[in-house]
Amino acid sequence: MMKNIQMLGVWVTATLMMHYTVANAQKYGIIPQPQSVVEREGEFRIDRKTVFLVSVDDSSFVEVAENLATRIKAVSGMKIYVKKGEGQSASKAVVFEKKEGMQIEEYALNISPRKIIITASHPNGLFYGVQTICQLLPPEIYGKRQTKGIRWSIPCCEIKDAPKFSYRGMMLDVGRYFMPKNFVMKFIDLLAMHKQNAFHWHLTEDQGWRIEIKKYPKLTEVGACRKETTGYEGAVGDGKPHGGFYTQEDIREVVEYARQRYVTIIPEIELPGHSSAAIAAYPELSCFPERNYEVPTGWGVKKDVLCPNAKTFMFLEDVFTELFDLFPSPYYHIGGDECPKDRWKESVYCQDLKKVLGIQTEDELQIFFVHRMDKFLREKGGKKIIGWDEILDGDAVPSTIVMSYRGHAPAMKALSRNMYTILTPNRWCYLDYYQEDPEKEQKSQGLFLPLKKVYNYYPISDTLSVDKHKFILGMQGCIWTEFIQTPDRVEYMAFPRTVAMSEVAWCDKSNKNWESFCERMVKEFKRLDQKEVGYSKAFYNVIFNFDRDEKYPKTLVLTLDMPKCIIRYTTDGSTPTSQSSVYREPLTVREGDCIQAQGFTAQGKPIGVEVSKIFK
Ligand code: ACM
Repeated sequence: MMKNIQMLGVWVTATLMMHYTVANAQKYGIIPQPQSVVEREGEFRIDRKTVFLVSVDDSSFVEVAENLATRIKAVSGMKIYVKKGEGQSASKAVVFEKKEGMQIEEYALNISPRKIIITASHPNGLFYGVQTICQLLPPEIYGKRQTKGIRWSIPCCEIKDAPKFSYRGMMLDVGRYFMPKNFVMKFIDLLAMHKQNAFHWHLTEDQGWRIEIKKYPKLTEVGACRKETTGYEGAVGDGKPHGGFYTQEDIREVVEYARQRYVTIIPEIELPGHSSAAIAAYPELSCFPERNYEVPTGWGVKKDVLCPNAKTFMFLEDVFTELFDLFPSPYYHIGGDECPKDRWKESVYCQDLKKVLGIQTEDELQIFFVHRMDKFLREKGGKKIIGWDEILDGDAVPSTIVMSYRGHAPAMKALSRNMYTILTPNRWCYLDYYQEDPEKEQKSQGLFLPLKKVYNYYPISDTLSVDKHKFILGMQGCIWTEFIQTPDRVEYMAFPRTVAMSEVAWCDKSNKNWESFCERMVKEFKRLDQKEVGYSKAFYNVIFNFDRDEKYPKTLVLTLDMPKCIIRYTTDGSTPTSQSSVYREPLTVREGDCIQAQGFTAQGKPIGVEVSKIFK
């Protein structure tokens, strides 16, 4: 219970901003950018004389220190001793110090040549201090094996830091494509490394139910596998069965892994829509149990939804009761999006239920459904619910947290009712959208979302009245997997955009700077290499902006998001060189024209890869 109270505190505590300067941050290469970094002379070098001193008798502080010692041992072979209790001394020490009065995720670092002091009131803040130390170390600290010849030094400085937003999350859809447990843990580790604190696990979908529920074995025997994948309407199937699920043992392991990284796992059980896999396993959950159901093979919104009857409510209560034992998160996600009402309209039972409840519409029936589940989750599990923004259609439960995905309007509606909201507006936060030329990239969802657009997002608009700010808990990126079949593809789509997102959610607007971010990305890519993340480097490439529907001749605007670089281009089919024409103004292109473009640094060095396009 303590933990729950603490987490509640984490999410509803707004933080104050402090001073910082850009220049030193670039040198230190930390992402997300700390509030304040003051440069000092010298370095602290971790060697065999170094000891870790935990000044307080607090097992969570000791655990954070020991985990860092384990990491250092893994990559350097050096055994660092962790000494507990006050009054310890050492000639060279990292001190893990508890100080009352700091916010939950706040920390301070004082790094001098013989001593590092990490100060925090809570283990969450201490953990973030350690993440910053890791980023200050050579990237090999993130490696999988011991590396010889590395100087394990940390530049001296003083850092004060705390997040702007208390919810900093990522969602992964494992329903469309199952992602193995080990990958989920790698993903969580990458979130924690960037001080993100929420992993929203989209565990159930039309095309797959992914979590073992002991009382309902068919959910995974039947609901976790589809016979093939057909994609969107009309597509030809691939003929390959797809399936997978997490056992409750797996879930416990992942939850424990996340706990050690101060990441809260928010399970999502979709209701009443997006539930075809559950209905295929248990047809009695639908309004028409006598019909035949199978786990859908194609994407899109499905009409077979949960029927608001006693069997369904008993089923859901049983499912959540098993989940209460697995997920300590005080927040549970219940979906609520995209629930067509066709079946409820057809169903005599639903029409009668409307009369009994004295309601007129099927939308009100959905509100009844959600209210019932909210009551159960609150009263039996002590949980607060999060729902997709359809949850606002009608008389939403005031304690519900609204996840605003269809732009900002739902968030504004939630704020007008003084409801808490998490922003994930699709145009800025859906990381299944393209990040390079759709003609060149593997098929993705339709919109274009380059790294800079993610970075420039900010959850609070300039015009929002200050008294509403506290209702914006934070933001989240979403990875829907209709077109993301494998962990490698998740990595490519998620990184580096997730890194940008971590900075948006951690920093006050005044502390964000795209140029500085790009410079820090140089070190960040080395860190991601050590973590063996297969990220995209599309943001180094020239973007071709034109209207596909415009008639020829049409206007072509070339842009490059990398600061301090120029674009050179050719029109004769040759590869651009440092001597090619410099792009200065929009080009006029005719049908059949071929434009090839590449970015160059001020020193004439090419960046990224050449992008070419034949207009036809
Ligand atoms: C959603 O994108 N349907 C939440």
